[in-house]
Amino acid sequence: MKVRRRLVQQTSRWFYANFSTDCNESNMSGRKFCVGGNWKMNGDQKSIADICKTLSSAPLDPNTEVVIGCPAIYLMYARNLLPCEVGLAGQNAYKVEKGAFTGEISPAMLKDIGADWVILGHSERRAIFKESDELIAEKAQHALDQGLKVIACIGETLEEREAGKTNEVVARQMCAYAQKIKDWQNVVVAYEPVWAIGTGKTATPDQAQEVHAFLRQWLSDNISKDVSASLRIQYGGSVTAANAKELAKKPDIDGFLVGGASLKPEFVEIINARQ
Ligand code: PGA
Repeated sequence: MKVRRRLVQQTSRWFYANFSTDCNESNMSGRKFCVGGNWKMNGDQKSIADICKTLSSAPLDPNTEVVIGCPAIYLMYARNLLPCEVGLAGQNAYKVEKGAFTGEISPAMLKDIGADWVILGHSERRAIFKESDELIAEKAQHALDQGLKVIACIGETLEEREAGKTNEVVARQMCAYAQKIKDWQNVVVAYEPVWAIGTGKTATPDQAQEVHAFLRQWLSDNISKDVSASLRIQYGGSVTAANAKELAKKPDIDGFLVGGASLKPEFVEIINARQ
């Protein structure tokens, strides 16, 4: 029995060593491909109805989990129009359940109206609204405690990349999350280089894979091997139907967070990038 088990282990090690880069390791990783659409502050009732119609009538890859990040005011409207199997995310939520926080919404409220996800730490929240690593991590912890799933965003600016600080920056951002998050099961990390967001300058598949592999190693060294193997890491930044397929082939890219293209019919092709 023991010999047989050893043989199976050796064979699977050999298989990974020899085939993992060629045959799309992430398909074998057990991590379900996950594509988020981040509508940001875009859309109105008419255009949202149109996008939801497209998503309802198109054949969506059942092996891809789809989540739509919708402006707060239209969440309930979108929930009623989206297919049931498409998840719904708030684009932000505060770190407590309720109280005197004018203009904020809470994870409890998101859950109440049928959202099951929240996007946190987006670079626009960090840069424009001056959210700190610590505040974002506190929000993530509270959202998870309330039973929401979290898309936790990270990413370096162009200046940081050019100074050779990409790994340092994403490690710092991950570290802040790790100080608050105890259970990573309901977390997806979105690696979004700031210089690629909304600029049309996508990271090349190799550039993205390099950072994703670094993050995988960081998780293994700092959290656990299990979390490293199971946590999904999305790439975000000018993903389009034209570049999604190549990016999706990379072994550590487990999906996308898509801004501009998620407002267009081509989002369907991005969802189906693995087909
Ligand atoms: P983009 O945005 O696809 O328009 O670059 C991505 C994001 O901000 O999540």
